[in-house]
Amino acid sequence: MFKLCLNKTTCFAVAATVIISMTTLGAQQPLLASNARDSQASDTRSLSNDKFMGKPMVDAPKPLDPLPQKKEVMAKHMNTINERYELSGRTHPTVTMSGGRKHIPVGPTAKLKKDVTWEKLAKLSPEEIKDRKIFPYPPLWFPLQKVGGFIFPDHQIQQMDGLERVDAGHDLPITYLPEFPPPLFLVGRPDLGDVSKGQVISTENFEAIFGDKEILSPRQKEGLRLLLKKIPAQRHNVTADRSTAQPVEGAACMDCHINGHTSGAFELTPDVRPQSERYRIDTISMRGTFAQDRLGSKRGLRSLEDFTQSEGATAYFDDELAKAAEKGGRFFSREEASHMARFQNIVDFPPAPKLTVEGSLDHAKATKAEIRGEAVFMKNCASCHTAPFYTDNSLHDLQVERFYDHVGSTSEGKPGRAEGLFKTLPLRGIKDSPPYLHDGRLLTLEDTVEFFNLVLQRKMTTQEKNDLVEFLRVL
Ligand code: HEC
Ligand code: HEC
Repeated sequence: MFKLCLNKTTCFAVAATVIISMTTLGAQQPLLASNARDSQASDTRSLSNDKFMGKPMVDAPKPLDPLPQKKEVMAKHMNTINERYELSGRTHPTVTMSGGRKHIPVGPTAKLKKDVTWEKLAKLSPEEIKDRKIFPYPPLWFPLQKVGGFIFPDHQIQQMDGLERVDAGHDLPITYLPEFPPPLFLVGRPDLGDVSKGQVISTENFEAIFGDKEILSPRQKEGLRLLLKKIPAQRHNVTADRSTAQPVEGAACMDCHINGHTSGAFELTPDVRPQSERYRIDTISMRGTFAQDRLGSKRGLRSLEDFTQSEGATAYFDDELAKAAEKGGRFFSREEASHMARFQNIVDFPPAPKLTVEGSLDHAKATKAEIRGEAVFMKNCASCHTAPFYTDNSLHDLQVERFYDHVGSTSEGKPGRAEGLFKTLPLRGIKDSPPYLHDGRLLTLEDTVEFFNLVLQRKMTTQEKNDLVEFLRVL
């Protein structure tokens, strides 16, 4: 008997046979997939169904039951969320996300300290805001920093098997998350509109959606298939060292990047150490990766193929190669990665009918407020967010730590540490992807405007801020 521990409180006695079968699973799931394109032997689905899930195993890890622990973790975490945000669920009466099924959330949602107003705050220097401890936008905490892993939104968990965790959950209401499922637009086929037709694209339906209609080239379709395939992850896998009640195959790229966009799932950045200093990171949309020179918020990976190839064995396992090997991590071959990149490269931004061919606002179609908002944007934001995709493809250090006591990490109950450079996220289609910023601390477009008003020390008037939000909604 071996003892395997999920964490300090949850350990299992595991028979040696289980370890052996788990190792075999890992071995059949080659870490370096050489040139085996995608053989049945490396298909976790058939393995887990036929050889693992199907057979009751002697002394197999019992379904984990740390639900009281999850309750405790989440109750504590939600206290901090509710202290920070007014989650009124307010949405815009007419403006929807691109699929037309979800109204965009309206803010600002950040709560201000007693006697503070947005106008007063904007007049203060960063030092004064820091000294008085009244900055509304410190980093957003990860609910279970010590454990990390992927966390999916509740509504997604309810609709898709195998994603729920027993130790931690999502913390934001659906109002502040992207439309689910989001529409999928293809670069070369604007005539088709949303090719997903309101469905979550999955291994079950992708043939029906893309098979005989000849929407995708064979290589794009193969790339999509691989992006939809479950692969083991640090907390989602078949070993006892996992966070799901039952052993699961893992998570697919497009579980987080649902329909090529984002479901609002988040994780801890793989690139930073120690564990206590890793920051929360919100799933970046795959829309418009064709226009990105750098991938990942600061990893500076320069090619989509490199990013894709390494993701399943590195980011999926917190950059711990040994863990990836133990749990059956997947290192895509160059050929597979290139197919996957082919698909990712054709995921388009949503249509923006009010933008010209150069990506600027078409005044013939715009409202007065949008035109005023464009001027505010040009003055305050366009140096970094440049048309047509509203990114300069560079990185900037916004030095947000000027505004809060940044000594000590979030996991120690402090507001957080200095976070350094981040890539300028593109603003095309921005109304579709709340929450905003790398960790999702800004729940609405109004919050992003208040945030940048402070961070850039712009002192915008209320009218300017309102107009700017109107402009952001048409991008
Ligand atoms: C936890 C859910 C999750 C899963 C599963 C996931 N990703 Fe991501 N993805 C993210 C997050 C979070 C980021 C931002 C990472 C960063 O900035 O370092 C990201 C970033 C990316 C980017 C960079 C986008 C950009 O514009 O910078 C690409 C490309 C990408 N993922 C592809 C993949 C592929 C391919 C897979 C499957 C092998 C995958 N992702 C699986 C969450 C996920
Ligand atoms: C100095 C360059 C710079 C300027 C000026 C700037 N931004 Fe940004 N913007 C960034 C960077 C860098 C990020 C990513 C930061 C992060 O994730 O921590 C970002 C992120 C954002 C996001 C979040 C995008 C997402 O997908 O989550 C929004 C919205 C945004 N900026 C709006 C604005 C607005 C509005 C202005 C003007 C008031 C502005 N920015 C001015 C650099 C800039």
